[in-house]
Amino acid sequence: MELKNKIIVALDVQTADEAREITRELSGHVGAFKIGLQLFTAAGAELVREFTKAGNKIFLDLKFHDIPNTVAKASVEAARSGVWMFNVHVSGGGEMMEQTVNQVDETCGREKIARPLIIGVTVLTSSNEEVLREVGAGENVEDQVVKLACLAAECGLDGVVASPHEVKAVRKAVSNNNFLTVTPGIRPTLATRDDHKRVTTFGQAIANGSDYVVIGRPIIKASDRLAAVEAIVGEI
Ligand code: C5P
Repeated sequence: MELKNKIIVALDVQTADEAREITRELSGHVGAFKIGLQLFTAAGAELVREFTKAGNKIFLDLKFHDIPNTVAKASVEAARSGVWMFNVHVSGGGEMMEQTVNQVDETCGREKIARPLIIGVTVLTSSNEEVLREVGAGENVEDQVVKLACLAAECGLDGVVASPHEVKAVRKAVSNNNFLTVTPGIRPTLATRDDHKRVTTFGQAIANGSDYVVIGRPIIKASDRLAAVEAIVGEI
């Protein structure tokens, strides 16, 4: 895969128009666009459908975490909206993930729609050991990520979101060689971290084996976004 296609640009903006402007500027220069909580709450499912109908690959990043029936039904709607990838929190449990995979598979088969990739969120890159202790979710970030990644793989998910620091450990622990790793927390230089506690550069993430990297602010806030993408890819 071409390096630029490994980049998923986070459309973390307030309005549909800003998101349209970014997709116009970067379509064909990156692999996909991510619609997360901010834009979805502001502009809704209509915008998701507009982008998928226009042929954009969309990662719907709503990090579903609820009872199994609710997550499975929301996931079926995500599939119907034509997204390429969406995610659920692995900490929602095995039954939640299995019902989701089963219902999405069943609906996509019956309605002849492309089956989206289903990705599990492990430990957010804004979390560290202190945060894990605070919420009673284990002591060690890497151990927790590996444990959740193995559970996601057992339940039939296609991959996980993790920090690039944990990609090697996930690869070692999960036997499925096609299991994907999607990694946010990417910065052109490690001087800026924003709210991430675990960051790497694009080059380090790819060297560690990340399949896709999610990049928001370093690209969308740049005065020349295409130049920002080229500089990031140019690191390698
Ligand atoms: O601007 P920045 O590059 O930090 O954006 C990172 C993006 O990755 C955000 O949209 C955030 O919601 C997302 N993210 C994620 N999973 C994590 C951490 C961040 O999807 N574990």
